[in-house]
Amino acid sequence: MKALVYRGPVRKEWADRPMPTVQAPTDAVVRITKTTICGTDLHILKGDVPEVVDGRILGHEGVGIVEEVGAGVRNFKVGDRVLISCVTSCGKCEYCKKGMYSHCEDGGWILGHLIDGTQAEYVRIPHADTSLYPIPEGLDEEALVMLSDILPTGFEVGVLKGKVQPGDSVAIVGAGPVGLAALLTAQFYSPAEIIMVDLDDNRLEVARAFGATKTVNSSRGNPVEAVLELTEGKGVNVAIEAVGIPATFDICQGIVAVGGHIANVGVHGKSVNLHLEKLWIRNITLTTGLVDTYSTSMLLKTVIAGKLEPKKLITHRFPLSDIEKAYDVFENAAKERALKVILYQ
Ligand SMILES: NC(=O)c1ccc[n+]([C@@H]2O[C@H](COP(=O)([O-])OP(=O)(O)OC[C@H]3O[C@@H](n4cnc5c(N)ncnc54)[C@H](O)[C@@H]3O)[C@@H](O)[C@H]2O)c1
Ligand SMILES: [Zn+2]
Ligand SMILES: [Zn+2]
Repeated sequence: MKALVYRGPVRKEWADRPMPTVQAPTDAVVRITKTTICGTDLHILKGDVPEVVDGRILGHEGVGIVEEVGAGVRNFKVGDRVLISCVTSCGKCEYCKKGMYSHCEDGGWILGHLIDGTQAEYVRIPHADTSLYPIPEGLDEEALVMLSDILPTGFEVGVLKGKVQPGDSVAIVGAGPVGLAALLTAQFYSPAEIIMVDLDDNRLEVARAFGATKTVNSSRGNPVEAVLELTEGKGVNVAIEAVGIPATFDICQGIVAVGGHIANVGVHGKSVNLHLEKLWIRNITLTTGLVDTYSTSMLLKTVIAGKLEPKKLITHRFPLSDIEKAYDVFENAAKERALKVILYQ
């Protein structure tokens, strides 16, 4: 089969690889019908995730059709259409029993990281019963690819950890796919204001179309002052960080209101300065974490009911065999006006 293979920092190759097979009775092999590229794949290609070895097939998102199941798989059979979670979980270990699937002792984020991933014609999914979700008949597969990673991430690590409440003022710093997923799912809770902060006017325009009440371009002027001005000097109840650099974490520290929450979603490569000398007296809460995907079934129901339209995040489509072209577009997201790209076969 063909797959997108990591060849060490900066290098990738659309190459021939052996067909994955069932290795444990709880495995399934899935034929990928749709997959996508994540910002994290770009981090890997930059060499930021050194545990990813030369030869690894990338990708941790996708939907497909079950091709083969091990003797221990109970919930799925050959021919079933499935959504693949970016987090693999055994369902049995101490962490899984607490709902912290991202720390599963025999799983977690392993796809396209520690084992071969979904940017391929076929993928092996360990612990299939607890790591795949059945796709109901007639549902749009493209929309569901957004449920593998970015929607649970924006919702669980941004909206839920940030404790967005009705009437709140919320600021989301970073209008990439993850920030926009937080924007879409924050609206379940009817906040009064959602202020989106980014450097890219196109993404801010998209954010307004997706329900942001106000936008701030942080490349022009001081974004902290701009957000304080929009909130009568009080700041926001919830500041969601969806970039992963010191500058944007600083914006969140500067705009969080008394009693507010900073929900950090971004993956940071460098340490940040925590301004405890200013924040201690403001009764704030700071949260962070890796997505657990415990909300996937609930999000799937909101998509089925038409309350959530994740398809809006898709801007480009390519056949899977053109994945290198798709990477070029995704790597130049601002110029290409790209959010999520779909690869299909
Ligand atoms: N915690 C988790 O479990 C988890 C899961 C998935 C992704 N992530 C992380 O979430 C973050 C966002 O992911 P994404 O795919 O949306 O990334 P992305 O790169 O597509 O989006 C980041 C956005 O931040 C904007 N930005 C950059 N510098 C800025 C600044 N100084 N001020 C304001 N905006 C700025 C960019 O213009 C871009 O729109 C990444 O760090 C990613 O690794 C975390
Ligand atoms: Zn991802
Ligand atoms: Zn487990």
